[in-house]
Amino acid sequence: MTDPDRITACWNDIKAAKVPDLRTLFADEPDRLAGHVIEEAGLRFDFAKTHLTEETLAAFEALAQAVEFGGKRAAMFAGDAINVTEGRAVEHTAERGEGNAQSVAAAREHKVRMRTLIDAIEAGALGEIRHVLHVGIGGSALGPDLLVDALARHSDRYDVAIVSNVDGVALEEAMARFDPAFTLLVIASKTFTTTETMLNAASAIDWMTQAGVEDPYGQVIALTAAPDKAIEWGVDETRILGFSESVGGRYSLWSSIGFPAALALGWDAYEALLEGAAAMDRHFRHAEPRANVPLRAAFVDLFYARVMACQTRAVFAYDERLRLLPSYLQQLEMESNGKSVKADGSPVDGPTSAITWGGVGTDAQHAVFQLLHQGTHVVPVEFVAVTEPGDNLDPAHHQTLLVNCFAQGAALMQGRANPDDPARAYPGNRPSTTILIDELTPHTLGALIAFYEHRTFANGVLMEINSFDQFGVELGKEIAKSIEKNGAQGFDPSTMALIELALG
Ligand code: F6P
Repeated sequence: MTDPDRITACWNDIKAAKVPDLRTLFADEPDRLAGHVIEEAGLRFDFAKTHLTEETLAAFEALAQAVEFGGKRAAMFAGDAINVTEGRAVEHTAERGEGNAQSVAAAREHKVRMRTLIDAIEAGALGEIRHVLHVGIGGSALGPDLLVDALARHSDRYDVAIVSNVDGVALEEAMARFDPAFTLLVIASKTFTTTETMLNAASAIDWMTQAGVEDPYGQVIALTAAPDKAIEWGVDETRILGFSESVGGRYSLWSSIGFPAALALGWDAYEALLEGAAAMDRHFRHAEPRANVPLRAAFVDLFYARVMACQTRAVFAYDERLRLLPSYLQQLEMESNGKSVKADGSPVDGPTSAITWGGVGTDAQHAVFQLLHQGTHVVPVEFVAVTEPGDNLDPAHHQTLLVNCFAQGAALMQGRANPDDPARAYPGNRPSTTILIDELTPHTLGALIAFYEHRTFANGVLMEINSFDQFGVELGKEIAKSIEKNGAQGFDPSTMALIELALG
């Protein structure tokens, strides 16, 4: 049992610690890098430009002990039902081979089925497949989309479109690119009930039917933890790729939900992705708190959220291949930790998830960086960059990209005084973290995403919240269903007027 008084005392110590200016920290600690840079799985995490000191780190370590972080982490990997509000285990790591032996074995069986189906598709068992139309939303789209966009841009294996929005324009644009006769329709939904996905799937079937495809359902694959529902919908059992209920939607890209990525990348690359994530799992499981990158990053997050009252954190990918990373992280972090009660139902002790936002560098520099440098909000910034130039054929471009990335971090921290002209003064002392990836490969991307997952979990444990439910999204869904069924009646005048005006 944790001791609430001890936890409160740790938070008080964290808040009482001195917060020196970043420039002073560098001046006073000539070897600051040694204590604030960690290299793991091909990634370099530079926390040196954050305000964490020996004193705050020690106070956070004490907090981790007080909340029994080690025990909670072990419980997750053991497959205990740590998602207490839903009575479920949290086993996305089993999908990459780390965790409870039984769950790892079950996940392996799912992978064998997935590979067999991919081999069959490649061998022409479903006819000639050139295009993959993946419909899913939230965790059933954001992860696969990030993987395909980052790693399969030039894949000549399949042309993949991932459609999430219920706005028909999104689906129509994808359908316009594809020939229905050669399209594999992939329906990704953990629950197989999500309105947007089911409507998009039905419209895609209509599109195939109208184009004269004889057996459109013969070109459908379902990725789901609810196989019975998929069968009821019309998908043949042999083309359903299941996964466990204990894999949360926003943690599901490692399960069969990653199918389009496996198709586009090929099996070896897909396995390398899982191995990269497993390498981060092992690090997270075994590294000491101070050297443990996901936990250390959570210390930084909570320092800014709870001590410095920063309401947001910004992630800028200085690599076009990672342009979807900020949207992926928005769901991962905000759906997991945007909570007001602890796992035991009592109110939280302070702000929970920071609002995650961001974009790509250098575009963002010319749009939002003004506020970061001179605005009244202090926003902890995370830069994510890749050393090797990747698809950049001209090294000059990559060099300029990286120079800009590093210049921004330095400028935010250094600032520049200008007593004669306040409009041209930069306060400086603004924090940033830099994640530098040697080379963007399936392995390093797997490690990067797993790092973010564990960081989110670590944040949740330190705040004593359950990061694995998402009841906040339910009320709006319920009301939408009620409007579809009963129309405008019973709502407030503003909502009724909007419904009547726009929907009649
Ligand atoms: O509405 C939120 C949510 O439940 C997410 O957590 C999930 O990733 C998304 O909807 C899609 O759910 P499903 O995979 O069941 O269609």
